[in-house]
Amino acid sequence: MINRRVIVKIPASTANLGPGFDTLGMALSLYAWIEMTVSEQTEFQFYGDQMKGLPKDKSNLIYKVAQLVFKEAGVQVPELSISMHSDIPLTRGLGSSASAIVGALVAANALIGSPLTDDKLFQMATALEGHPDNVGASLFGGIIVAAWDGERADYMRIEPNERLATLVAIPAFQLSTEKARHALPSQVSMADAVFNVGRSSLLVAALASGELGMIRYAMKDRLHQPYRAALIPGMSTILERAVEHGALGVALSGAGPTLIAFVDAKAYAEQLEPFLIDTLKQEGIEANTLWLSPCVQGPQVTVEDISKQPAIPLPDRIKGEM
Ligand code: HSE
Repeated sequence: MINRRVIVKIPASTANLGPGFDTLGMALSLYAWIEMTVSEQTEFQFYGDQMKGLPKDKSNLIYKVAQLVFKEAGVQVPELSISMHSDIPLTRGLGSSASAIVGALVAANALIGSPLTDDKLFQMATALEGHPDNVGASLFGGIIVAAWDGERADYMRIEPNERLATLVAIPAFQLSTEKARHALPSQVSMADAVFNVGRSSLLVAALASGELGMIRYAMKDRLHQPYRAALIPGMSTILERAVEHGALGVALSGAGPTLIAFVDAKAYAEQLEPFLIDTLKQEGIEANTLWLSPCVQGPQVTVEDISKQPAIPLPDRIKGEM
């Protein structure tokens, strides 16, 4: 009988960072928590506004992903008690589904004594999500450079410069990744491909070496942002002009609609927040802004012995961290 209780805290993430479509990701200081125990009957407790409407049966993504871990490890754990709280807004481009997948993989693996390696979890997460950028960032923390050929995902991790901070503007409307990917062409020109190879390479070198001044030249894209601009009114203006208002660089966060500006934490850009909010407002879009730091850690895992440590409701446990 498994007598563990596992609690996992998983960071949100931003993908692409502009030119690194499906390749670059960075973990952010915004979190989801998953608690998992073995149970007599499968049950779910969801806390927080982000969890409304999610299925509370065995069709739930977290349950299904946990079962994939058990199958891979050759063990049977058919009934689970799953609790979740998330501060990561859904379908806004901040990696909520990647955090759920990574959290479920890590929690289920820890529940059965961690037989699967992090690399195995990364391969599974990438196949489930369909690209490695968000899941890599949530799983390893920091900045992730990753490539996937449909079979194997390889990655390198970059430690974010301590001066790097971000300001995100989260529009008050949802945009599914499916819709945002549907807007993309199936082929691009050689000139655009070369443009992105150049910018993405520059960006990786700038982030790895801490040359924050290079970000403004590197954070440019021709593979996805121009095609997605029509789905996010105000985005083109923000991409063109945020640097004039103190950003180091700016990009669509993942598939959007959130916009993310990189900023130098030591050079407070006071004009940037009103610029983002006002530009979106002029298009009739309300937006929330959040100052977020790169999260340098991957999932933080707590394992308890059920027989020795009494259950604490998840919201009480994470109070003060939310
Ligand atoms: N790289 C992905 C995209 C991230 O831009 O579609 C979405 O989750």
